[in-house]
Amino acid sequence: MRQLAPEFRAYEWAPPTDEVARIAGIDPSQVLRFDQNTPPLPLPSTRPGAIAGALARVSGYPGGGYRRLRAAIAAYAGVEPENVVLGAGADDLILLCARAFAGPGDTVALPPPPTYPLFRIAAQLAGATTEPGSSRSDEPGSRVLTFACRPNNPTGALDALPDARPLVVDEAYFEYAGESAVPLIAEDDEVVVIRTFSKAFALAGARIGYALAAPETAAELNARQAPAPVSSLSAELALAALAAPPDVAPVVEERERLASALRALGLDPLPSHANFVYVPVDDGAGLGDRLLRQGMVVRASPQAIRISVLDREDDDLLVEALARVLDRPSPVAAAGGRRVRTLRATAETRIAVRLALDGASRVRVASGAGLYDHFLEQLAFHAGFDLVLEGAGDLETGEHHTAEDAALALGGALDRALGDRRGIARYGDAVVPMDDALARAAVDLGGRAQAELRLERDPGLAGHVLASLAQSARAAIHVEASGRDDHHVAEAAFKAVGRALRVAVRRESEGLPSTKGVL
Ligand SMILES: Cc1ncc(COP(=O)(O)O)c(C=O)c1O
Repeated sequence: MRQLAPEFRAYEWAPPTDEVARIAGIDPSQVLRFDQNTPPLPLPSTRPGAIAGALARVSGYPGGGYRRLRAAIAAYAGVEPENVVLGAGADDLILLCARAFAGPGDTVALPPPPTYPLFRIAAQLAGATTEPGSSRSDEPGSRVLTFACRPNNPTGALDALPDARPLVVDEAYFEYAGESAVPLIAEDDEVVVIRTFSKAFALAGARIGYALAAPETAAELNARQAPAPVSSLSAELALAALAAPPDVAPVVEERERLASALRALGLDPLPSHANFVYVPVDDGAGLGDRLLRQGMVVRASPQAIRISVLDREDDDLLVEALARVLDRPSPVAAAGGRRVRTLRATAETRIAVRLALDGASRVRVASGAGLYDHFLEQLAFHAGFDLVLEGAGDLETGEHHTAEDAALALGGALDRALGDRRGIARYGDAVVPMDDALARAAVDLGGRAQAELRLERDPGLAGHVLASLAQSARAAIHVEASGRDDHHVAEAAFKAVGRALRVAVRRESEGLPSTKGVL
């Protein structure tokens, strides 16, 4: 094998989730990853249905030169299909550019440190030597290639574009910054822009990215690329994602909220143009290690930690953990004690649940099953839970699967959060009037599933959703609800079940709530 430069270091991953779980002494499902700069959940378009056609044809090679995908990428980026080069992630295209432009004896200019390590790795694998931070064309020396990273990983900075050529601009986080070098490729055949579906499009596991360049440059790169660099399944997922591109505004807003919570903790995050924040600290490695022992993974270096923006609930858990580790008062409200996170995936739906029983009624339900999302929100709110239930289902066939699976997922999370059910009140009941409707509910959390539901009216699936909840929560739920309006009857029923649960989950003693001594 050809020798690599003695200073060569391969890419290093953080410990995998099951290893973190083992170190932290928790279940892998409870590990929080703030180190990947990827969204916490796939987009709604990423569903088994999106790849069903490609799966049926998976015995053949990706056909047609990815024509549909090239056209969709070109339309998204405002260029033509002949400007597009496909790759298995931005990494594949960084490696392609390095070997296309550089070889033994050449020098490649890297962005100023700290930056994404793959530029150095790719240049060294091509046999070239690297010069960090030298990106101006009037500097002495002959560089065959200059890499720029905009926004830069790990700092989030959006530095000025170097004027050196040839220039490869990594825009993995372009969507969060909105600023691009793509307009340059119309006049300059020495500029290549690299982008990915791993970040804003939440397809990191699918390994798909693209480069954009002048037609002759793109043709040269394509000639040097593998014949079929992207799987047909990944190509379909990317097409589905491009048909409904994500709105990154909530991530940008949450980034600023997280940054101000970190400042309230006495830390000093740098301004960021991406979906992460870079926080200089004295002992980054030590801090990262202490967070890891609590099941939270950040990207740590000796002088900083880099935190990916997830969402308010998860980011607040990290802020709380940082406050504990640094022994400072937490600037965010503590989430409740009995807490779980679960993911339920079937061929029809994918539902992620985060549930805290001792919460403060902070509730968000978004499965797409409109009315039933609203009813589950009412139930959790009146139970006093903190609940985030997110997911996507095959709504083309109606709300049935999605509403049922959302209830099954919530019930399953409730069952897990109750653990061995030691010390809970077990029984609860409530009466809820709502305009013309009146609902009475009683629940038993003794561990046996039963649903006795008498709803005088039902907008469709209310009874079925409550029965699904009872089944997976291993609860007996009795409801009588009457009134003149379907919606009111159902909503009163869900609220009454919520109020009854609030009583039944209450912790009263250390013992098992059964005269038999077992549940
Ligand atoms: C700047 C930068 N470029 C490229 C990548 C890799 O992207 P991909 O998953 O598309 O290979 C990353 C991933 O973290 C990155 O931060």
